[in-house]
Amino acid sequence: MINDQAARLRDISRLKRATEEHLRPVRRIAITSGKGGVGKSNISINLGICFQRLKRRVLLVDADTNLANIDILLGLSPKYTLGDAVIGGQFLTDILLSGPEGLKILPASSGITELVGLDEVVADRLDNAMAQLESGQDAVILDTGAGISPTVVQFASGADEVIVVTTPEPTAITDAYATIKVISSRNPALKFHLLVNFAKNRQQAEEVARKIQLVVENYLTVKINTLGFIPFDAHVPQAVARQKPFVLTNPHCPASLNINLIARKLLRLPVEKKNGGSVFRHLFKTKELA
Ligand SMILES: Nc1ncnc2c1ncn2[C@@H]1O[C@H](COP(=O)(O)OP(=O)(O)OP(=O)(O)O)[C@@H](O)[C@H]1O
Ligand SMILES: [Mg+2]
Repeated sequence: MINDQAARLRDISRLKRATEEHLRPVRRIAITSGKGGVGKSNISINLGICFQRLKRRVLLVDADTNLANIDILLGLSPKYTLGDAVIGGQFLTDILLSGPEGLKILPASSGITELVGLDEVVADRLDNAMAQLESGQDAVILDTGAGISPTVVQFASGADEVIVVTTPEPTAITDAYATIKVISSRNPALKFHLLVNFAKNRQQAEEVARKIQLVVENYLTVKINTLGFIPFDAHVPQAVARQKPFVLTNPHCPASLNINLIARKLLRLPVEKKNGGSVFRHLFKTKELA
């Protein structure tokens, strides 16, 4: 009798855990920038690895369809890419690659210039397939291209949170503001974070963040949360040359310590769902921007 009750209680708690697991919201983060070469791809990969180490299941999507390079940064050779799913009907699950620390990667192919305004049938197929992939994850990270092309803007709009990466250079700051302006006008509900990369020190990063905060507050209706900074660190290009993530080659270097702090900070924030459908939904369904 007591055994029966205990077994039933165990069943109930197992069911509760399974339901909670199923309902746990996925954190969908787009990493973008106005200016190119500010560190988005390196940040996407290393943030993904930090999340995995914090026991989160992560899907990293190479959303830079012009100059895809997540696979190169990780020394991987994909058999299929996102392009094969769009054009050749390949299943997304066939495209998935395994990366370090259990990171799952959806590689893109360079050269598909615009994905916006796809055929409705293809769009539905990919949206459904992506929604299924997302449901098994704790986080989906989208490494977008730089700038404000329709594909970049739509990828970012389909996420729930957007990390805008800038460097202290005046051109990068101006372009970061332009990016926030364009993406927020497309989807004002998105949560924006700012990450300053290549900073000389904390003081410089805080100055850059303050400047951007000020113009955003004065001219836009959205708010932007300052996430932190990553200093200029020679270990980053060294890791790139070895096609390995810097958090693995140099776990205690300044860039690794700071990206770890950023990962923990992000995970402490609540997940706020801003979009229905998968991160592909907006991308494929908006013909007018093509
Ligand atoms: N914190 C850093 N310290 C030193 N070098 C860095 C740092 N972050 C990135 N880099 C270097 O900057 C270069 C560009 O990085 P990355 O490719 O990640 O930028 P990106 O924003 O993804 O570029 P793109 O716009 O072309 O996609 C790389 O060579 C990388 O080694
Ligand atoms: Mg990149």
